Amino acid sequence: MVDIHLSTFILLSLFPLTLFYFFFKSLLLIKSTQNYGPKSYPFIGCLPSILPNRHRFVQWTADVVNTTPTKTAIIHLPFGRVRVVTANPTVVRHILKTSFHLYPKGEGVRNTLFDLLGDGIINIDGDGWKFQRQVSIHEFNTKSLRNFVEHVVTTELNDRLLPILATASATKTTVLDFQDILQRFAFDNICKIAFGYDPACLTPSMPDAIFATAFDDAVMISTGRIRGNLPLIWKFKRLFSIGSEKQLSEAVSIVREFAKKLIKEKLAELEKNSSLGSVDLLSRFLSSGHSDERFIVDIIISFILAGRDTTSAALTWFFWLLHDHPRIETEIMKEIVSKSESTVYDEVKDMVYTHAALCESMRLYPPVAMDAKQAANDDVLPDNTFVKKGYPVSYHIYAMGRSKELWGADWAEFRPERWLEKDETGRWVFKPRDGYEYPVFQAGPRVCLGKEMAFLQMKRVVAGILRQFKVVPAFDEGVQPVYVAYFTAVMEGGFPVRIEERGEIE
Ligand code: HEM
Repeated sequence: MVDIHLSTFILLSLFPLTLFYFFFKSLLLIKSTQNYGPKSYPFIGCLPSILPNRHRFVQWTADVVNTTPTKTAIIHLPFGRVRVVTANPTVVRHILKTSFHLYPKGEGVRNTLFDLLGDGIINIDGDGWKFQRQVSIHEFNTKSLRNFVEHVVTTELNDRLLPILATASATKTTVLDFQDILQRFAFDNICKIAFGYDPACLTPSMPDAIFATAFDDAVMISTGRIRGNLPLIWKFKRLFSIGSEKQLSEAVSIVREFAKKLIKEKLAELEKNSSLGSVDLLSRFLSSGHSDERFIVDIIISFILAGRDTTSAALTWFFWLLHDHPRIETEIMKEIVSKSESTVYDEVKDMVYTHAALCESMRLYPPVAMDAKQAANDDVLPDNTFVKKGYPVSYHIYAMGRSKELWGADWAEFRPERWLEKDETGRWVFKPRDGYEYPVFQAGPRVCLGKEMAFLQMKRVVAGILRQFKVVPAFDEGVQPVYVAYFTAVMEGGFPVRIEERGEIE
């Protein structure tokens, strides 16, 4: 009895001590950590710095992190909201790998994108994410990739893209929006991979396919939600189904109805011929016993989003850089002419210099500028920045590609050789960079599933186009292209070009 009273007494007297301990510990934790960032004011946060930079948020935040001693900054948004942004490779490794479990996508981004993406792979954490990743990974094995580059990409290139460029080069005066063309090209490809369906967006009349237009609208409006400073506004509009939110729900319903129709057709096809079970991602999911329509639609939408505008963005900036760097174009041409005209899988894989040039152009103009996670608990980052549970933490891909510390004093120079070394026979060998210093494809357990597929597609397209044509930018005098980041980064207003026949190549 005495023992029970004694232990109750000890416990009771320990309770306030424990409370004090945690209170002081958290105070000490905050004091002992260092938080840098633009000047912040009560209630409005960094709004005075954000407002004049709202049209160049990516460039401004890149300047902020790259001039911060730790390369991590805390940006205070109005009404007490906070965003942590980092360009520090050690921190990037911490959030993407070492403390992966502490930095899921989180509810913030998930709720904002849920209407469009639902529970698709790029909007889900935990077991649901693991399962989708395991099933989809097969779509990226060597056999599928070989089929992709030798059939899907080559057909789209030879039957659609090159004839359009040939017509434009014959007139000499035609100005094409090359970004639009590359987006249509990638959209046709990814739909074939995901659904086994050809939307035929890249045809000479450049049709406004209902599905593609609805998909575009849905992506634009969802991005607007992320960019808006006050989530309450879109939530209010959604509640009353007005303005952009009304448009979003209409666009999403077109996309989903269309996907459901394709699923029904695919199921009927599979019933007739079950050996089709692995020809595209949709067949693969349906044959693995998953018949929940919403689940399948979500996965397919995620894939289209991930694979659509990323490769087109990369190629747009690549062709723009190339025109200003004739020495590099010549090096690439040497590599292209050393391959056969059909440029099959193994040859495409082996285009080392072109591979380096693509990496280099994505360093300066990454298709995804920033990517956000959300802290599942209080944490202290390796550079001593304190992160509170619920804070969004973004790694700034664009800023990292422009960091003097990571790339040297000549970081602004487009120089593929920084990715290459010569072997003893004098041949170029690719020299990869640490994935946490160059997280263009993310890194760690959630590294981009389509990385290899993207490189194959891009190299095949570069070889196919450059072998026959020169892509000549046609901006008005004094106009420079502007990099703008939505889900993926685009060249604002498109990429006007003229196409010239290349003529004889040695
Ligand atoms: C140059 C082209 C590409 C770049 C730069 C790129 C970059 C990225 C990045 C940064 C992420 C992380 C985004 C996030 O978690 O929100 C990602 C994820 C992903 N990407 Fe890519 N991507 C490219 C092409 C592709 C292609 C062609 C496909 C598919 C056909 C694809 C499929 C995926 C998937 C499925 C994920 C989600 C992975 C996961 O969460 O486990 N990507 N990609």
